[in-house]
Amino acid sequence: MATAISSAFETCATPAPEGVVVPFGYQQSLLRFITCGSVDDGKSTLIGRMLYDSKSLLDDQLTTLAEDSRKAGGGGGRLDFASLVDGLSAEREQGITIDVAYRFFNSSRRKFIVADTPGHEQYTRNMVTGASTADLAVVLIDARKGVLTQTRRHSYLVHLVGIRQIILAVNKMDLVGYDQATFDAIVADYGDFAASIGIEAFTAIPIAAIDGDNIAASATTMPWYAGPTLLDALDHAELPERRGADAGFAMQVQWVNRPNLDFRGVSGTVAAGTVRPGDRVRLAPSGLMTQVARIVTFDGDLPVAHTGQAVTLAFAEDVDCSRGDVVAAASHPIEVADQFEVDLVWMNAEPMLPQRPYLLKMGARSATATVTDLKYRLDVNTLAKEAAKTLPLNGIGVCNISLDRQIPFAPFADNIDLGSFILIDRATNETVGAGMIRFALRRTQNIHWQSIDVTREAHARQKQQHPRVLWFTGLSGAGKSTIANLVEKKLLALGKHSFLLDGDNVRHGLSRDLGFTDADRVENIRRIGEVAKIMTDAGLIVLTAFISPFRAEREMVRRMIPAGEFIEIHVDTPLDVAEARDVKGLYGRARRGELANFTGIDSPYETPEAPELVVDTCAMPPEEAAERVVTHLLALDGD
Ligand code: ADX
Repeated sequence: MATAISSAFETCATPAPEGVVVPFGYQQSLLRFITCGSVDDGKSTLIGRMLYDSKSLLDDQLTTLAEDSRKAGGGGGRLDFASLVDGLSAEREQGITIDVAYRFFNSSRRKFIVADTPGHEQYTRNMVTGASTADLAVVLIDARKGVLTQTRRHSYLVHLVGIRQIILAVNKMDLVGYDQATFDAIVADYGDFAASIGIEAFTAIPIAAIDGDNIAASATTMPWYAGPTLLDALDHAELPERRGADAGFAMQVQWVNRPNLDFRGVSGTVAAGTVRPGDRVRLAPSGLMTQVARIVTFDGDLPVAHTGQAVTLAFAEDVDCSRGDVVAAASHPIEVADQFEVDLVWMNAEPMLPQRPYLLKMGARSATATVTDLKYRLDVNTLAKEAAKTLPLNGIGVCNISLDRQIPFAPFADNIDLGSFILIDRATNETVGAGMIRFALRRTQNIHWQSIDVTREAHARQKQQHPRVLWFTGLSGAGKSTIANLVEKKLLALGKHSFLLDGDNVRHGLSRDLGFTDADRVENIRRIGEVAKIMTDAGLIVLTAFISPFRAEREMVRRMIPAGEFIEIHVDTPLDVAEARDVKGLYGRARRGELANFTGIDSPYETPEAPELVVDTCAMPPEEAAERVVTHLLALDGD
């Protein structure tokens, strides 16, 4: 069982480590924390109490909260404790679906930022957002109810995003007669659960937020409790500056100074360990070695820099280094890899689709990432591992990801900065996922790209043509196959070497195992893209006729093929026209509900935004459309 501790406070109540520069001075250090629990557990009361008892609210904050309270039906006027709580609840209700409410207060010792997030399962995303910048979590429990499903869920998420300091605030002790046995039983119960998910230690405090018991002042109602009050515990919690302080030095390069200065230096924030002039360092991914010559800051050179400090390092040698590279102690080199097993939290209404390319950002570094294998989805309530093909909004899963390049990294458990990343949708620029690296997969390291003597250029030369992909996209029944067929016949007549990959045919073989869910369509197009790429390497002109409904995958194939060789052709037929033709009778079946996920009916088609060519099948017969395509192709080659 994980142990409940209060002794840890003695060890972290030490002064700032020598040389650590804390922006406001140590007496005014900043601690960010998150509160987990629901209104039922007394969360608003607790936050209200902390704000009220610390007497740190500014006048205008009080006025706003009083106003909110009045709108919510509270008393208004002079702000007493009760209306402050009403105000907080009302404020959070208003913002409940959008985000995290941040509240600020301070003690004589510290400044605090509290992330107040909605507690329900559908707000996992918001909780992870709030928790990702927090140094500590206050997990709130109603003493009458004990450890609940949501307590487990919150604790799991808090641990997942790397928070290692947990305060278990057992609230409403007044409603259980301030009973020590009740408190002890809850602590034991939580300890068992905490240990099972890897939480090593937590601090348990019995409180009655409504009366302020054990919030700022020790409660006379619970003489059996000798530990810290909640504000004491927060005052003495470990600061982020200490995080990673004992590890080997590592820093991601945010900025490379150009040589117009009298030295070549790289700037960043120390992610782990300490660094001194004279230290040998290794750069990743290049593997270049050098020595730190100086540690430069605006206030002059430093003899040492610690975790959390922003510095510029000047190297002894003129080594090549770019933004996003990692400088690490030569004795603790940073690994590089391009495939990982990760924990992934999905934050977008559009589900995560394996094989779809997303933009991965890890600090200043970015890469294209695809989820290659979703191993399981976690039921955050029961912690059961469930088989799944996609991750929905607020879903959490463990998966393998594959990047288009090697990146320097550390497992998240060792280093939060070098082990966490976000995924961004390339089309919308929205952050769609947050990930934590478990470890690198070694699979590709032993598979080397076989260099082939007969090159792609040699293949193309022999065929006396420029390889291309003519990518036809459009609704079912738009006329893609018909037009592509005619184009291929014309190419044959012109002496060109080509091959037509057609949706219906490929689905009898290569993609026989795939259906029409979004995930399956993504995988179908990925396969076709790979085959088309190989065929262009063989010097062929490849024609593909697939609905290929999603922009992201069409763009993925475009990026796989050398610039200029991918020609996207939108076979533009309005839905009503395709449906009226209904050559295969499929629209009729889809409308009758006999066929699910039919493109245009209950599955989307994303119209190309900038295709190389659009053929309007209502304005011209297939023969003319084919002629246009051939003319476009020949013009590219200057024929
Ligand atoms: S894609 O979306 O993955 O690109 P693809 O072009 O391979 O689709 O296959 C589309 C063909 O499969 C259609 O022309 C149609 O004949 C058939 N089909 C069967 N079910 C569906 C469906 N639910 N949605 C679209 N096409 C379907």
